[in-house]
Amino acid sequence: MSKEIAIAIDGPAGSGKSTIAKAIAGRFNYIYIDSGAMYRAVTLKALQLGLDLQNEAELTLLAHTIQIQLQYKKGVCGQPELRVIVDGNDESEAIRSLEVTSNVSVVAAVAGVREAMVNLQRKMADASGVVMDGRDIGTVVLPGAELKVFLTASAEERGKRRWLELQAKGIQTDLAELTDQIRKRDLFDSTRQVNPLRQAPDAILLDTTSLTIEEVIERLMSMALEKGAKPV
Ligand code: CDP
Ligand code: CDP
Repeated sequence: MSKEIAIAIDGPAGSGKSTIAKAIAGRFNYIYIDSGAMYRAVTLKALQLGLDLQNEAELTLLAHTIQIQLQYKKGVCGQPELRVIVDGNDESEAIRSLEVTSNVSVVAAVAGVREAMVNLQRKMADASGVVMDGRDIGTVVLPGAELKVFLTASAEERGKRRWLELQAKGIQTDLAELTDQIRKRDLFDSTRQVNPLRQAPDAILLDTTSLTIEEVIERLMSMALEKGAKPV
């Protein structure tokens, strides 16, 4: 029997979550929800407003009032492209800045911020046929998801992937430094008190260190088909 299911993909930075989630959503014509983009949006707005990132009350208020929309537009080569609209402004590029990346974990560790984002994420996922990626999707946001996958890869491989990605955008960075930043962010994300990065007990662990993007997509496709999802 075929049905629309919820797919939760969690894992550390650079493990391939968003690349794979987007591809899987495309193959099943499901909604893709990038939960990390939402924490990035709150962080960007806090920086723009000059908020003190240690002030949990201010960050909580911001997270409960901010307007975040995830929209799809036709991008280059006709591929759908995710645009992140924050309080009416397209901030898709700004939320990926190095400044946001180095501050987002602190903002995402605030209980009130998480409460607001989790509520929003659950509302967005209300319709069936959804792929959501993040750190706490299988454990907290969508605990009833039919398919849960926890993607990993060695820190060296993840650092290299990010480095190549930045190089392609013309941004020169130091590979060792980038890998170290990724390690620190993962440690922070997995040791925070509220909803840490953690594999759900019923999630399938997939180490992608030596797998190509196509190979990972194929593995997830078979898992989703096994759960009854129907490709378009
Ligand atoms: O793409 P990348 O792996 O660098 O990060 P992201 O998915 O955009 O997430 C950025 C940050 O948001 C993470 O390092 C976490 O601190 C936070 N995050 C979270 O706490 N919970 C989620 N469900 C998603 C992201
Ligand atoms: O969302 P997350 O931070 O987990 O990772 P991503 O942004 O999807 O992937 C990080 C980079 O690794 C991207 O440039 C992907 O093209 C690349 N990648 C890869 O080379 N091999 C894989 N098996 C998965 C992703």
